[in-house]
Amino acid sequence: MSDLTAPKGTFDVLPPDSARFLAVRDTLTAPLRRAGYGYVETPVFEDTALFARGVGESTDVVSKEMYTFTDKGGRSLTLRPELTAGLMRAFIEHRLYSGPLPVKLWSVGSAFRYERPQAGRYRHFTQVDVEALGVDDPALDAEMIALADQGYRDLGLTGYQLQLTSLGDSTCRPQYRELLTAFLAKLDLDADTRRRAAINPLRVLDDKRQQVQDQLVDAPLMVDHLSDTTRAHYDAVREHLAALGVAWVEAPRLVRGLDYYTKTTFEFVHGGLGSQSAIGGGGRYDGLSAALGGPDVSGIGYAVGVDRTILAVQAEGLDVAVPAGVQAFVVPLGAEAKKLAVRLVGQLRAAGVSADTVYGDRGLKGAMKAADRSGAAQVVVIGDRDLAEGVGQLKTMATGEQVAVPLGELVDRVRATVGA
Ligand code: HAM
Repeated sequence: MSDLTAPKGTFDVLPPDSARFLAVRDTLTAPLRRAGYGYVETPVFEDTALFARGVGESTDVVSKEMYTFTDKGGRSLTLRPELTAGLMRAFIEHRLYSGPLPVKLWSVGSAFRYERPQAGRYRHFTQVDVEALGVDDPALDAEMIALADQGYRDLGLTGYQLQLTSLGDSTCRPQYRELLTAFLAKLDLDADTRRRAAINPLRVLDDKRQQVQDQLVDAPLMVDHLSDTTRAHYDAVREHLAALGVAWVEAPRLVRGLDYYTKTTFEFVHGGLGSQSAIGGGGRYDGLSAALGGPDVSGIGYAVGVDRTILAVQAEGLDVAVPAGVQAFVVPLGAEAKKLAVRLVGQLRAAGVSADTVYGDRGLKGAMKAADRSGAAQVVVIGDRDLAEGVGQLKTMATGEQVAVPLGELVDRVRATVGA
């Protein structure tokens, strides 16, 4: 046994479970494609400064969890802990803001956080990420939330809840920040927490320790101090959500793990996952573009954790479509038949039939076992006598029925039978 294993906090996705991974990932992205969002790929590593400036220095993500390294050219690079900052960087770099707005984008891929691994929390995980950039319209906030909700619904999930709040913006957050800071100053907090509070006092509301939470019962809440414009925005979002049939609960103490959020902010939590219950989350981030040196335009988006959503699917005992192996399987008996089998499998695949054959010297019994395992509905057996007669034996696995079919007609016959 080799001493090389997948790094701590990472895992491999292997067949047959990988079929579930693909089904979940693709189900989560289908609503975006239907809504006209365009697919984007950005590098999995970026300049470290992008995340420091984009995600925020007060966050655990930036201060403790980044995979940062110096490349051979002396540049400080970081494996992306999330996808939003990279997409925003691309939006600015390629001046997408000078075209029609909003720019609607989606991506899916790996993210990396040096977190303490536990069920549902990994150091390498996969996110489906969606962003709509350049327009500040509450209808867009509602669309975004509804798209995430649709993905979960399409998977058949029911045991989740949408938590929603507004974090205000530059018209009201500074005043609220002062209120909260004054409130926190009177509490019994350790030096570390005070330092965090100085950078972002909202983060203290998210402190998981009971002795801290006990002191926060009467803390002022952002939703009670929204300016007229942000309140009107939030009201409109909720009106659109109700019209879209999306249910939510008010979550005035919701603090996200990233610093860029303004106004509408949300998280989807699932009841079957234990402590790592967030299966997705997002919100508006109207200052991010400007913070990264781009134009002062708004944005809203969310990311769904594919791995956690799979756990939710499993927790609810849902059967997401797991495609069966192949439709047809070819079993050659002897060297001559093998050559024909290789060609036949190629022709079947080219004709749109998923097909496979045996490799290595397996013998009839082993080959039939492989055929069985493949899930194929149709199996073609070709022996020496068949070759001499110019036929293959086409067997329907469900009934055991077998007929001799001329070699030249096999592809069409199989294709017609499996309905490819
Ligand atoms: P986030 O809440 O940090 O938001 O992550 C989104 C989702 O990724 C989480 O709800 C969770 O399902 C999954 N996730 C996060 N960390 C881990 C982990 N260590 N292991 C497994 N799954 C994890 C963002 O990343 C924002 N960029 C979302 C966004 C897009 N906001 C605006 N646009």
